Amino acid sequence: MGSLLVDDIGELVTNVAGTGDGGPLGLRRDAAVLIEDGRVAWVGPARYAPAADRRVDAQGGAVLPGFVDSHAHLVFAGDRAAEFAARMAGEPYTGGGIRATVGATRAASDGQLRATVRRLVGEAMRQGTTTIETKSGYGLTVADEARSLRIAAEVTAETTFLGAHVVPAEYAGRPDDYVGLVCGPMLAAAAPYARWVDVFCERGAFDADHARAILTVGQAAGLGVRLHANQLGPGPGVQLGVELGAASVDHCTHLSDADVDALAGSPTVATLLPGAEFSTRSPYPDARRLLDAGATVALATDCNPGSSYTSSMPFCVALAVREMRMTPAEAVWAATAGGARALRRDDVGVLRPGARADLIVLDAPSHLHLAYRPGVPLIRQVLHNGVPQCRS
Ligand code: NIG
Ligand code: FE
Repeated sequence: MGSLLVDDIGELVTNVAGTGDGGPLGLRRDAAVLIEDGRVAWVGPARYAPAADRRVDAQGGAVLPGFVDSHAHLVFAGDRAAEFAARMAGEPYTGGGIRATVGATRAASDGQLRATVRRLVGEAMRQGTTTIETKSGYGLTVADEARSLRIAAEVTAETTFLGAHVVPAEYAGRPDDYVGLVCGPMLAAAAPYARWVDVFCERGAFDADHARAILTVGQAAGLGVRLHANQLGPGPGVQLGVELGAASVDHCTHLSDADVDALAGSPTVATLLPGAEFSTRSPYPDARRLLDAGATVALATDCNPGSSYTSSMPFCVALAVREMRMTPAEAVWAATAGGARALRRDDVGVLRPGARADLIVLDAPSHLHLAYRPGVPLIRQVLHNGVPQCRS
């Protein structure tokens, strides 16, 4: 593969706290990055850069770790644009449309599902995402959940079993029976393809007792815990996630003071998904309250056909800054290092020797432009495992 030097960098975001400018982003000027064997081999002043076989000229643009999108639902079929239009005309979001996607997903071939997943991973990559998590949850039979995860595992190591997304129509009125299926044969079929287990813990989906049962057997099967919690209203999900040692509780739109305290006093990450509030026209979560309390915050897209059909991390960064009282630096950290924390990864979301050489080059001189220039395609180049992916 040979070595590769990235230089003429306007501003380097390393996320190595305390280095460079001394802040959490570890900002450096006049820096260069040497890549060998898909990993960062050296970071330092450009004038001391070692010789390399090849060179990427950042042309004065900012260089950042690739985005880590720690929450997406990419395995689905069908289209819910009409549901979005109805919401924009005043209808509320209830999650009821999930069952429409379940029907379309069950009817789709493996090839159709694979094509959608690959299209969305490519779309995300062109917008700077180099690590992406994806969930099952639109199959809701043993076979359809297992195949969703098998297809997801072809493109990412970060796969999550979400058999407990909603109770499917054929189990209507029998949630205990469905939870038994999820905890038994469905988990057994899904676990070989999954790293994580997740539950939609919300009124109308799964209550705390069901969520606890599913997450506990998932943990016993070797899966890490994450949770959809407190999206549509207050509830027990955040506290349950913290109690079970979840890597992340996601949405966190409706939090009590006790929820905020629990998050602040734990390693569980609060993953905020502003694309969902945008697309459901709902109030945004208060990131400032979480950050001021000392909680770790991540940003992710929640890319799915119902509540948030965006694969764009730059869009989420801009929303977080404009609508959720995050500074640009906090939002960039949350979309990179924060996502890595939410996935319990220390090899991504950071640029230091040994880390995966996942870098983005901006068509802009600093990370501030990601929020300052919303909707503008600023990702000029993406390197994934040290390999240049695209040039727009
Ligand atoms: O994270 N809230 C639950 N699941 C998804 C939405 C799924 C859908 O509407 O299809 C979410 O927002
Ligand atoms: Fe989600």
